[in-house]
Amino acid sequence: MRRCSPFLLFTTILTCLLLVVFASGSPATKRTPVQVYNKYCVECHGTDGRAKTRKAKFNHARDIADPKWQDDVTDERIYNSIMNGRNVRGNMPAFSKKITDQEADDLVTYVRQLRK
Ligand code: HEC
Repeated sequence: MRRCSPFLLFTTILTCLLLVVFASGSPATKRTPVQVYNKYCVECHGTDGRAKTRKAKFNHARDIADPKWQDDVTDERIYNSIMNGRNVRGNMPAFSKKITDQEADDLVTYVRQLRK
């Protein structure tokens, strides 16, 4: 008696793999905070949030890794600044048309992790 057909085994593994891919959602619609940050924020704030790029200096972008600023600011304000922009000392564009509420929420958490 045969214990296991190689074809059956192959089909089972393939089905499992496909299930995992579908269960984790379509990667095209869901972006990770890192992807969003790298796409929209890095050019001004830099990978580490320190705003040391030439464009950052030009726009007077803020150092969002600065622990003193991190202590002063609430999550709500960070969220608002990202979605509506901020033009107090520089020119931070609004992102409410480019990212979802959920992505903005995730960015707040991401910004908190940039703290040095
Ligand atoms: C065109 C350059 C530019 C881009 C792109 C940009 N920022 Fe800014 N960002 C700024 C400037 C300039 C400021 C300072 C604004 C001010 O205080 O007037 C700032 C400030 C901030 C602040 C502090 C706001 C506050 O209330 O003190 C946060 C947080 C921030 N940016 C996050 C982000 C995130 C997240 C993204 C990407 C979605 C992003 N920024 C994209 C230029 C930029």
